[in-house]
Amino acid sequence: MGWTPVCKLDRLRAETVVRVHVAGLDLLVIWNDGDVVACDRACPHEQADLALGEVRAGRLFCPRHAASFDLRNGAINPGWPSPPLRLYPTWITGEHICVEAREQQARR
Ligand code: FES
Repeated sequence: MGWTPVCKLDRLRAETVVRVHVAGLDLLVIWNDGDVVACDRACPHEQADLALGEVRAGRLFCPRHAASFDLRNGAINPGWPSPPLRLYPTWITGEHICVEAREQQARR
């Protein structure tokens, strides 16, 4: 239920971060050292575009203030007054990566 194919695995391995649009939401799909992660594209701190950030050592670094998010659970590094980065379930079927996202998930 609600799984949307968003890109091919080969493309994600080559590009590391792919911008996708699912159920009206702007998301990122990230290749994190062998794992696939889907998250909101907007930083939960002040809405910077995380597609311009950097993935390093299991974390996504925001390009505006350089806070970083743990790609296992979305937690921001200590000291930032911000909710965690919202993550979405992913599933790989054959060569395709699928994401489960619903519009109401972004409003919580
Ligand atoms: S906008 Fe991303 S850390 Fe501030």
